[in-house]
Amino acid sequence: MKEPVSVENPSEEALRLRAELRRHEHLYYVLDQPEISDAEYDRLMRRLQEIEKERPELLTADSPTQRVGAPPREGFQRAAHSAVMISLDNAFSDDELREFDRRARDLIDRETIEYVGELKLDGISMATRFEGGALQLALTRGDGVEGEIITENARTIRSLPLHVDAELLRKEGVSEDFEVRGEVVMPRKAFERLNASQQQAGGKTFANPRNAAAGSLRMLDSKVTAERRLEFFAYALLVNGSARLDSQWETLETLGRLGFKVNPHRARLDGIEACVAYSHEWLEKRDSLPYEIDGLVVKVDSMDLQRRLGSTSRAPRWAIAVKLAAQQAETVVEDIDVQVGRTGAITPRALLAPVQVGGVTVSRATLHNEDEIGRLELQIGDKVLIERSGDVIPKVLRVVEPGKDRRPFHMPAECPVCKTELVREEGEVVRRCVNINCPARLKESIQHFASRKAMNIDGVGESLVEQLVDRGLVGSVADLYKLTVEQVAGLERMAEKSATNVVEAIDGSRKIALARVIYGLGVRYVGERTAQLLADYFGSIDAIAKASKEELEEVEEVGPRIAEAIVDFFAAPRNQELLEQLRAAGLQLEQARPCGAAGPLNGKTFVLTGTLPELTRDEAAERIRAAGGKVTGSVSAKTDYVVAGEKAGSKLDKARKLEIPVLGQEELLALLDDGAAS
Ligand code: IVH
Repeated sequence: MKEPVSVENPSEEALRLRAELRRHEHLYYVLDQPEISDAEYDRLMRRLQEIEKERPELLTADSPTQRVGAPPREGFQRAAHSAVMISLDNAFSDDELREFDRRARDLIDRETIEYVGELKLDGISMATRFEGGALQLALTRGDGVEGEIITENARTIRSLPLHVDAELLRKEGVSEDFEVRGEVVMPRKAFERLNASQQQAGGKTFANPRNAAAGSLRMLDSKVTAERRLEFFAYALLVNGSARLDSQWETLETLGRLGFKVNPHRARLDGIEACVAYSHEWLEKRDSLPYEIDGLVVKVDSMDLQRRLGSTSRAPRWAIAVKLAAQQAETVVEDIDVQVGRTGAITPRALLAPVQVGGVTVSRATLHNEDEIGRLELQIGDKVLIERSGDVIPKVLRVVEPGKDRRPFHMPAECPVCKTELVREEGEVVRRCVNINCPARLKESIQHFASRKAMNIDGVGESLVEQLVDRGLVGSVADLYKLTVEQVAGLERMAEKSATNVVEAIDGSRKIALARVIYGLGVRYVGERTAQLLADYFGSIDAIAKASKEELEEVEEVGPRIAEAIVDFFAAPRNQELLEQLRAAGLQLEQARPCGAAGPLNGKTFVLTGTLPELTRDEAAERIRAAGGKVTGSVSAKTDYVVAGEKAGSKLDKARKLEIPVLGQEELLALLDDGAAS
């Protein structure tokens, strides 16, 4: 949706946009706390560019369009880049991509150009300088001219080689003094884990993997960085600030041979139509990647042509970022209602005039909580900008235009379904319905139980659950197992065949592993990973249900808050009853404990603390478990060994007090090896 260049006053609009862009740059680059999405930021930037293009007399030297990044934040030393780290221009559609190609072909007078397609990893760019084959300096992009020195932090990234062999460099024809540039990312899994443990420790959680990567890379304490699973993907090789090899493809291949991690999903593309096809393929498959991408990069393959094309002050003419068509649209908030979640949390939701966003009709968007409505200054009747990304529920980004007959929304005082008075606990942003028999909560619990990551029961979705609860056929998740084909076939939109499928799917779920049953129960704060850790540690639901808070806290990653939620859950008579019904239904409420398996460390209990020189805590724990040992979260008389690294804390003190043997990494490895030998 292209807006005409300023309707009223372009010079005022340019001023406003500059101020707004600067604020967002500060939030994004300096504070790591962006308030708007990248797409929204890009939109503002493009709007300013458009104005400045049409009215060049309005362009000022300090406009955000005139520089490549943002100043490094205080706290880190800075150093100059060997060559400016410029950013890329964006193409938001196939036609814009074709236009980029046409401009390039015109400039160098060619019929067709060979390109390389790469994923545009959504992380933080980093330049690493090697001298005599050894890593000497790592810099963030900073303002593009100078970056922050983050060498110590970079060293903790395992996919970044600290040294490249002289012989290898000779063979590849690369000098011993060279520079590699690339992107640091945090894989989705590592991000989820980090946020879970931050939440448990009451620390700051990150909005997305990119922010988490940025935050982790700029830790003043590199030990913390070491604990975070960051990855470095290389995409450029420079000597004395310029590219050495003949082509981008050769550069990537060489980097791979030198030991750098290079993204495997690269492609050589002959002509722009191949690039268009490549971009369609990956923008569609992006969710299947273990890390996030925010687009693709198309680069002219030949370095000779790259040099001939050169760069503008902002970006190279030989490369372009292909972005997913902005998944945003404007529409009107017709009403706001509230939804009751499985924990009773009340979430306000905007009911929208239906609008197409990226090929999907959207008529609802989440508003998270009442504070968010306040922050947005949103009222019913307002025109808003919404954004949809991947599978997540669309959200409202901002009010575009207040409605003429706007009216404020007030959170209800009682549950919209069961009319119980809502409670907003101190320090919480959400109100909750505390009635555990509330039908709305029940419906959500059943849907969660049946969901893919829990019991994975096909066909038990929103509309079926709605009917099952409303007709009194199901009063708890255990009742699902009593359903007959006749009962299900009697419901709306349910033919005999689909009813049979549903009942069979429910039946099949009796075999689902313990961890998923635990997750499916929907105990507060118990996500998939915690459920797995609980299952592995205790081996049965009964053992978990009987465990005390202290015993639960022995499980890795289970802190006081989670332990308390588990105790509370199993203390409720209604949940005890539920357990009995699930047992009667024949669900898997036990499992063989993996740590009970035969192995050299069989029966031994370990606690890990501090940072080990090479192994991460997860790796160490994995190896101990693989050898039959058990890893717990807190030191007690039952602990056999404490493995301590640098900056070990109170757990080490406790080990000493209880006279428990303390091992370093070397000793742990020896123990694992001994076991392997015997
Ligand atoms: S090439 C002059 N390739 O995207 C060309 N950049 O705005 C420099 N990025 O800051 C960039 N993946 O951090 C290139 N495969 C890739 C990339 C990539 C991610 C980032 C990079 C840069 C930004 C471009």
